[in-house]
Amino acid sequence: MKDVYTLDDLVSRSRLDEGAEQPARLAVLGSPVAHSLSPQLHQAALDETGTGGRYIRLEVPAGEVAGTLDRLQELEFIGANITVPHKFEALSAADEVDGAAAMLGAVNTILFERGRKLAFNTDGPGFVRAIHEEFLVDVKDLRIMVVGAGGGAGQAIAAQCAREGCERLVLVNRTVEKAEELALRLSPCFESERLEGPGERLQVFPPDSPQLVPESHHIDLIVNTTSVGLKRTDPSPLPPACLQPHHLVFDTIYNPPQTRLLGEASQVGARSANGLSLLLYQGVLSFELWFPGQHPLTTMHSALQAALGHP
Ligand code: ATR
Repeated sequence: MKDVYTLDDLVSRSRLDEGAEQPARLAVLGSPVAHSLSPQLHQAALDETGTGGRYIRLEVPAGEVAGTLDRLQELEFIGANITVPHKFEALSAADEVDGAAAMLGAVNTILFERGRKLAFNTDGPGFVRAIHEEFLVDVKDLRIMVVGAGGGAGQAIAAQCAREGCERLVLVNRTVEKAEELALRLSPCFESERLEGPGERLQVFPPDSPQLVPESHHIDLIVNTTSVGLKRTDPSPLPPACLQPHHLVFDTIYNPPQTRLLGEASQVGARSANGLSLLLYQGVLSFELWFPGQHPLTTMHSALQAALGHP
């Protein structure tokens, strides 16, 4: 058994399953893929629910996603997860695409069904579930600021907030053009007359805009989707003056568990949560697509905590 498999290993079932007790039935496709926690998350669920089979990491070069999915289908896989940088390429490889994936133009889950590749995106719906579980509120009722709205994760979360019909959406990105492009795509979701507080329902700012601090005070939920915070020495992606006690602050980063942003949020008395629940719920939703009716939440949660070395 290997930590990471390559396309060469797909040449035959016997090669793929060499040294393993169970056949590989699910995979995460990415590049690099070695750091992905999806195997720990889903293997625990496969073992607990008795559905059996192995979940493997598969290193796939750009341009090879469609061919790889065809091969997995021939090898009778149940489905796959798609991670960076293949979420866009997987869309064009699919036979059918669900609403969330189509709107995002990105796919994170594939289900093989009767010779067809069905594509989904559970990142957005996973975010909605995570916010509900962490803060007991619904995304649709909130004024939301997405910091890092030009990146893959930021776009997925912002698009989901727009689909949910959130009260207000403020997109913040260092490269402001990327957020402006996204705003253009999402603007049809905000065409109603409903205006909440000052400011428009859909706005874009760079992180150094002087308007950012006053605007942030008319926000309920701040979400960091930038990679700023992955290193313990990183600063916060937002000026501290943006944070107020009424804020809910969600950082999609889960390792380290406490970023500078989350620390500053606690200091002002805001409620905050890290991205562990997002990782968990996008995974649970993928698992439910592959195995309808299965909901191994507790098992997956424990597996994640163990994988991250959290108590
Ligand atoms: P992707 O998710 O598409 O792979 P990424 O390079 O991981 O992209 O970056 C994710 C987000 O973090 C982007 O919004 C990026 O801002 P830009 O679009 O301006 O590149 C943001 N980001 C990364 N490093 C940053 C930094 N040092 N300061 C501010 N934002 C940063």
